[in-house]
Parts: sequence; structure tokens; C-alpha cells
Amino acid sequence: MPENKTIVLGITGSIAAYKAADIASKLTQEGAKVEVVMTPSATKFITPLTLRNITGRPVVSDMWDLSDEFSVEHVALAEAASVVVIAPATANIIAKLAAGIADDMLTCVVLATKAPVILAPAMNDNMFQNPITQDNLKKLKVRGFTIVSPAYGRLVSGKVGVGRLAEIEEILCVIKKVLGRNGDLKGRRIVVTAGGTREPIDPVRHIGNRSSGKMGYALAEAARDRGAEVTLISAPTLLPEPKGMEVIQVETTLQMKEAVDKVLSGVDALIMAAAVADYKPAQIWGEKIKKHSPTLTLKLERTPDILAELRGKLLKVGFAAESQDVLKNARIKLEEKRLDLMVANDVTQPGSGFDSDTNKVSLIFKDGRVEELPLLSKREVAEKILDKVASLLEVK
Ligand code: C5P
Repeated sequence: MPENKTIVLGITGSIAAYKAADIASKLTQEGAKVEVVMTPSATKFITPLTLRNITGRPVVSDMWDLSDEFSVEHVALAEAASVVVIAPATANIIAKLAAGIADDMLTCVVLATKAPVILAPAMNDNMFQNPITQDNLKKLKVRGFTIVSPAYGRLVSGKVGVGRLAEIEEILCVIKKVLGRNGDLKGRRIVVTAGGTREPIDPVRHIGNRSSGKMGYALAEAARDRGAEVTLISAPTLLPEPKGMEVIQVETTLQMKEAVDKVLSGVDALIMAAAVADYKPAQIWGEKIKKHSPTLTLKLERTPDILAELRGKLLKVGFAAESQDVLKNARIKLEEKRLDLMVANDVTQPGSGFDSDTNKVSLIFKDGRVEELPLLSKREVAEKILDKVASLLEVK
């Protein structure tokens, strides 16, 4: 999470400079201290005042203007930075950095910092493809810079090509990944399942459940931001696909089981947040069932229990959504499925369970310990679960 981190956001003179305001705004909303440094040409595209209002921080654009009470020194910024992001980065700043030139505030900060540097290039497609730019980017990559490749699409010239600033969500995700590089799940491989599986009845109908996928997605994103390599196996949800991880979309319980089995080798922990259908129609109709008869009987059969059938030494975390005897039922499932940790939630509680943005859960450990958590956002619940996963992995 960028919370409480100092992020230096460098903005250079590209038409995409206005998009930097969105990056600054989202990072500020997530609790980061955003220090904006603009090149003089960037100020022709977007005003420092805009960035100053968004971040609530002074904006530096002129290295020699020390008149302001907020005058900032490049070395202080370079030292305070947890990460430096240049978005958009023009061919010019890329060339200057590759050559080690420090002739403005932004290049001085980059040269003086020990923090990781992320560049999100945005420029005309010919400029981007020019071997000089490509060589410069290669050089910077070798030096440890992270490059967020520009996207394909409409350019300001009216042409279509590669050169558009990458999607803001992608840039934000790279920032979070870089910030979490040394997190407590660094180097861990974690598989998270999410959403509710669907079992087809006929070509248009299915048996499903009310899972929104929010808890599983929050877990996958939180694990990514703590340095883990994440695979998210998702049953259908309405959520946007998260960036910075492998995402495998599935529909049925059987497909989810196959996906889990396929990715499992070398995995440290499996967190099964998915609401998996326990039964599926014994027969799938090839054509849409017509409503001719007053009643219709569906015969259902059990689906495989993904967690219970798993072998291997990996850490297993399950979820138990219950409507009665929550702790008792969750404990029975923990034992039956031989889990290390069970997250139990009472779906009848207001603000808890399916589709809400909050959740109230109890954590049940293998040794019988129970920890009750207050009502929290799903992201906060995810962080608490991952605190336990990180320490259980330490001793495993
Ligand atoms: O459905 P149940 O309450 O038994 O789910 C408990 C845990 O087991 C959940 O973590 C769920 O993802 C997992 N599960 C599974 N395979 C099933 C059913 C549930 O892995 N067929």
C-alpha cells in the first residue's frame, strides 16, 4: 500500500501530462505523500497549481526558485522518496537520464535518489520506436529502472500506434508492486481463488451463489502489494481484472479444481476464498429447457471438494460462510479439510459476507485458537489474514 509512503511524481512535457493529475489524485487518496516535480515544459501542458491542490503539497518546477517558503531541495526529495515515478516520460527525459545528464530538478532528483525509479513513456510512435529511444530505454532497464510500456491506441497526431501513456490502473499497480518488493510475502507464491462458481443447467441457466468476489480480489491485491507472486483463479465476478498478477478465469467447480491443480507446484499458500458450488446438475440439457410442465425436478450431484482433496505441504486457508453455529461449523470444516487457517464469517450479520465492502470474520487456527476481528473493509480483513499467512509461512 502506498499509505504513508513518499512518492515523487515527475511530470514531463507530453500531452499526456494531464493524466498525471489522476495518478497524483489516486495515490493521495490512498494515503501517500505525493511530491510533484515538473519539468518546465510540463508546466505548459498542466499547471503546478492543479497538482498542488490535488496533493496538498508544494510543487517544484523551477530548480532556481528558492523564494517560496516551500522551496524544496532536490537531495531532500531524493532521500525522502520511497519510489520515483515519471509519468509521462518523454523521449527527452529518457535520453537525459540514459546519458546521466542532470540539468533540471527532476533529473537531479533521479540521479540523487537510491529509491527505485519507474518510467511510463508517452510519445509519438516514431519517436518511441526510434532506435535511439529504444537503446536509451534498454540502458535504463539494465540500470534497474522499471519501464511501464506505452499502450497501443490513438495518438495526438491522429495516427494509431504504440506511444500512449499506459493505463493509469497499470501504472498504479506497478507503483504498488515496486513499493511492496521487500514486503513480508516477498518471494512467496500465493494462489487465491475468488468469486462464485457456476454450474450450467442448460445453455442459458446455471446454479450459482451470491459471492461478489470482493474478498478474494482484495486478498490477491493485498498479497501482490506485499511482494508475493500471485495467481488469482476467478469464477465469474463483475470486478475489473486486477493487474500485476496471473489471472485465470474459470466458471465451474471442476474447472476451478483443474486450474488449482495445474498451478500448484511450488506454491507456498492456497487461499480458497471462492464460494464453490457443492452440487451440480447431474445432467446438462443441450437445449434451453421449455416451461411446458408445472414442475421441474433437477437431480444434483456432488462436486469435488478442491481443498479437501489437496495433498502437499502448502499452507491452506479456507473460508466458511455460515448462517448458524458459525464457529462450530467452521471448526469442523477446518479439521475435515486439514487447513492451517479457517476464516469464518456469519453471513447473517449486517455489513458482513456476500457483496458488501466490509466483512466481520473470526480466524480459527489449527491449534484451536480463535481470533475475532471487528467489522473491517475487505481490504483490511485481507491484510489481517495475510499477517497470519506470513507468520505461519515463517514457521512452516
Ligand atoms: O462450501 P464450504 O463451506 O465447505 O467451503 C469451505 C471452504 O472449502 C472454502 O474455502 C471453499 O472455497 C472450499 N471448497 C472447496 N471445494 C468445494 C467446496 C468448498 O475447496 N467443493
